[in-house]
Amino acid sequence: MENKIVKVGLIGLGTVGGGTLEVLAKNSEVIAKRAVKIEVSRICNLDLAYTEQRIKELGLEGTTTATTNFRDLIDDPEIDIVIELIGGIHPALEMVSAALAAGKSVVTANKDLVASHGAELFELADNNGVDFFFEASVAGGIPILKALKDSLAANNIVEIMGIVNGTTNYILSQMTSNGADFEPCLKRAQELGYAEANPTNDIEGFDAARKMAILASIAYNSNITEDMVYVEGITNITKFDIAYADQLGYAVKLVGLAKPAPGDENSIAVCVYPLMIAKEHPLASVNDVFNAVFVEGDALGQSMFYGRGAGSLPTASAVAGDVITAAKKIINNTRGVSGIRFFENKKVLPITECINKYYIRLMVQDKPKVLAQIADAFATSDISMDSVIQKRVTDSGLAEIVLITHSVKEANLQEALERLQHLACVDCVASMIRVNGD
Ligand code: HSE
Repeated sequence: MENKIVKVGLIGLGTVGGGTLEVLAKNSEVIAKRAVKIEVSRICNLDLAYTEQRIKELGLEGTTTATTNFRDLIDDPEIDIVIELIGGIHPALEMVSAALAAGKSVVTANKDLVASHGAELFELADNNGVDFFFEASVAGGIPILKALKDSLAANNIVEIMGIVNGTTNYILSQMTSNGADFEPCLKRAQELGYAEANPTNDIEGFDAARKMAILASIAYNSNITEDMVYVEGITNITKFDIAYADQLGYAVKLVGLAKPAPGDENSIAVCVYPLMIAKEHPLASVNDVFNAVFVEGDALGQSMFYGRGAGSLPTASAVAGDVITAAKKIINNTRGVSGIRFFENKKVLPITECINKYYIRLMVQDKPKVLAQIADAFATSDISMDSVIQKRVTDSGLAEIVLITHSVKEANLQEALERLQHLACVDCVASMIRVNGD
C-alpha cells in the first residue's frame, strides 16, 4: 500500500486549479505519509503554454503532462480521480458525467453544477461505484459538508444559518464600519478582486442560494435545487438602514437559512436574504470576506464553522482534502459506498408562509393622525409592533418612521405593506429587512 500511487487528472488551471496543483505538489510528502502518494499526471487547460510553464515551475516535468483535450484524461486508464475546476454548467456537466461513467471518482468545487444537477451526478457515481465529492463548492475552505455528512450524521438539523458569500459580507462590513453607500463599497470590492466585473451572482444572492441548496439537500436528505431557494440580494440595503440597525443592536448580514417548517414535518424553509442579526449572535461578528456557517443539531446544540470562503489556497485546501479522501477509498477498496441519499422529499415553504420579525422604514407626512393610520394598517393584518421610532424629518418635510414588528407570517406583512403604500399620508415604504429572533 505504501508504494501505491493514485494518479489524478486536473481539468482547469485558474485560481482554484492553480492552487490545488500547488498544494498537492508542495505538500506531497506529508500527504503521502498521512494517506497515499498522489500524482497529478495530466492537466487539461485551454492555455497549453501556461500549463507547461506551471508544470516546470513546480518541478513536475517528470510526472505531469499538459493537454487541451479532456478526453485524454478520461481515456487514460491509469487516472483514478478527475478534478473538475472550470466552473459553470457546460461543459463541466459533460466532463464530470464522462469521468464518472468511465469509473473515475470526481472532485469538484463547482456549486452551479452541484446545486442544479447534484442528484443525477450522485446517482451516476453510485451506479458506477465511484465517489463524487464537492466540499469546496460551499464556503470554500471551511469543511462544512463533511461535517454535515459524517460528523453530524446522528443529528436532526434544527437550523443552518450561513454567511456563505464573502463579497457581500465585505460590502456590508464596509458599509457598516465606514457609514458608506453600497456603490462605492461594491467598487472597492471589485478593485480588490473580491467581486467580479459582473457582480450579479454575488450581490443578488444567487451564489449564496446555490450554496444553500447544497447545504439544505445534505441536511434534510432531499433534492433541493437552486431554483427552489427564495433569494433577495443586498442592492436595496442603504447606509441609513445599517445605521438604524446598529442603533437598535443589530448587524445586517446576507444570510442563507435552512430549517424545518414549524408544525409541518414535510416542509423546510430555504432562503437567502439580508437579515438583521442581534450583535450578540456569533454570526454578527463575522466580517469582511470571511464566511461562517452556524449549525444547530438536536444532539450537538449550536456550533459555528468559520473561515475563508474563497481564494486560491483556502479553496484548494478543500479540493485537495477531497482528493485525499477519494484516494484513500481507492486504496482501501471502499469507494462508492457512502453516497448521499435523498430518502426524504421535503417541500420548500413559499416565502409568504415563513414567519419573521420585520424592520420597516417608512417616509410619511409629518402631520397629526399619521401614526394612528399606520398602526391601523398593521393591526388590520394582525401585526403587532415590537418598537416604533420616529426619526429625522427630511429637507422635503417628510418624517421617517422606523419600526420592528413582532413575529408574523410574511403574507400578513406583505398585505400590510400594500395597504400602507396606498395611504395618502405615506410617501413610500423605504425599506423592509427581516429580523432574526422570535
Ligand atoms: N464569489 C464567492 C464569494 C466565492 O464572494 O464568496 C465563490 O463562491
